Amino acid sequence: MEQKSLPKHIGIIMDGNGRWAKKRGLPRTAGHKAGAKAFREIVKHCRKREIEYLTVYAFSTENWKRPKEEVDAIMKLLGEYLDEAFQHEDENKEICVKIIGDVAPLSTELKEKIRKLEEQTKNNVGITVNIALNYGGRDELVHGVKALAQRVKDGTLSPDAVTEELISSVLYTAEQPDPDLIIRPSGELRLSNFLIWQAAYSEFVFMDVLWPDFGAKELDAALEQYAGRSRRFGDITAK
Ligand code: FPP
Repeated sequence: MEQKSLPKHIGIIMDGNGRWAKKRGLPRTAGHKAGAKAFREIVKHCRKREIEYLTVYAFSTENWKRPKEEVDAIMKLLGEYLDEAFQHEDENKEICVKIIGDVAPLSTELKEKIRKLEEQTKNNVGITVNIALNYGGRDELVHGVKALAQRVKDGTLSPDAVTEELISSVLYTAEQPDPDLIIRPSGELRLSNFLIWQAAYSEFVFMDVLWPDFGAKELDAALEQYAGRSRRFGDITAK
């Protein structure tokens, strides 16, 4: 595939698992299982296309409102992915995995899996895969603002020294470029509290496909759309 301009960082809202399952008369948990499979394929395809950062929305701060059975099923799928990535170190040596979000309320077992995989993959070069787990953009800003307020209270930060860069540096995505492209499948047209600070200048691609059916072809179609966009960042000429 000829690529004019590639995004460095792609964000994906993995939406539509429930509808995918419903259409097939299956429980919603089956949709999430199929969604986890689609995620694995997309990581491979992003690597193939030399995307440097991929952030996927796996579980939001609002998703705790779902039935316990569904929450448990999603956490189990995440645990399985973390185990698998940890055990198949050789296959994953070009993937650096990071969990972004508030991990505090997660089970001790899941937290331990996260710690082990992050440690094992931290120096891997290729693609950084951020899995947003118990993530909310507003919640992320609250955490960041508290950290800065503490520094002001301690006398190590002057309010005048607060800049956009400083705020970016206290977010979970510190030191990473902002997402160039955010993809939302499933036909919904909203951001749902995903990377709200980082998405200030992102390009959006909304697609009418449910996440479990999202594959290499759909990613390439989104990349094609992105390549045709003119990014001006408030200026009048494209950058
Ligand atoms: C949104 O679809 C999807 C979720 C809330 C969960 C996403 C989780 C996974 C894909 C599985 C685990 C992830 C990894 C990284 C292994 P929805 O349930 O809101 O769909 P609906 O709008 O059709 O009901």
